[in-house]
Amino acid sequence: ATAVIVAIDGPSGTGKSSTSKAVAAQLGLSYLDTGAQYRAITWWMVHNGIDITDPAAIAAAADKPEIVSGTDPSAPTITVDGTDVAGPIRTQDVTSKVSAVSAVPEVRTRITELQRSIAAAAPHGIVVEGRDIGTTVLPHADLKIFLTASPEARAARRSGELKGADVNATREALLKRDAADSGRKVAPLAKADDAIEVDTSDLTLQQVIECVVTLVEEKR
Ligand code: C5P
Repeated sequence: ATAVIVAIDGPSGTGKSSTSKAVAAQLGLSYLDTGAQYRAITWWMVHNGIDITDPAAIAAAADKPEIVSGTDPSAPTITVDGTDVAGPIRTQDVTSKVSAVSAVPEVRTRITELQRSIAAAAPHGIVVEGRDIGTTVLPHADLKIFLTASPEARAARRSGELKGADVNATREALLKRDAADSGRKVAPLAKADDAIEVDTSDLTLQQVIECVVTLVEEKR
């Protein structure tokens, strides 16, 4: 069998990461969390005092950090210049700034090249999750999935992950980030014309995983 490329896109809180990791693990594929890469470059910008309200400053620094993603779905890793940033990239500070950094074209060009080379090197294929994978990064993916869920379901899941976070505040922050990601000029969050949309609002994680595994198996 040849390497299978699976693109999984959608807004936050739809179960993209949990689904993508489990599907990759079950099928023996590599896994790439592209959101983690945008978070990592954002972390580096903040850490190095780059003014993230200044797109020109972000653009000028876009090539500086070395970002390395480990693609084992059972233990994905992310480093910046050799430092493990898996923890720091999940802080609210990074989460609130990542949309501004990821909207800068130079950042997207840089990270997109990285993503394409990682996907091309995956020996048995890869599950790549993000916002623009099916539309821009891997337009020739064998299978494209677009996960959706109601704002209520997404906020509830995210607050569950953030243990004890206020559901309303989480919902507002999440909708704001999705609006920014959907509204940007370069490679916005969007469903590719040939993507299969799966509404996860009333499905368990296990049901979503089974649904996607079945779709991948049909393509192999
Ligand atoms: O998936 P996650 O919530 O970790 O993504 C963080 C942010 O990274 C998104 O809100 C978006 O701004 C950016 N992103 C992107 N393109 C991708 C993946 C993530 O712009 N393919």
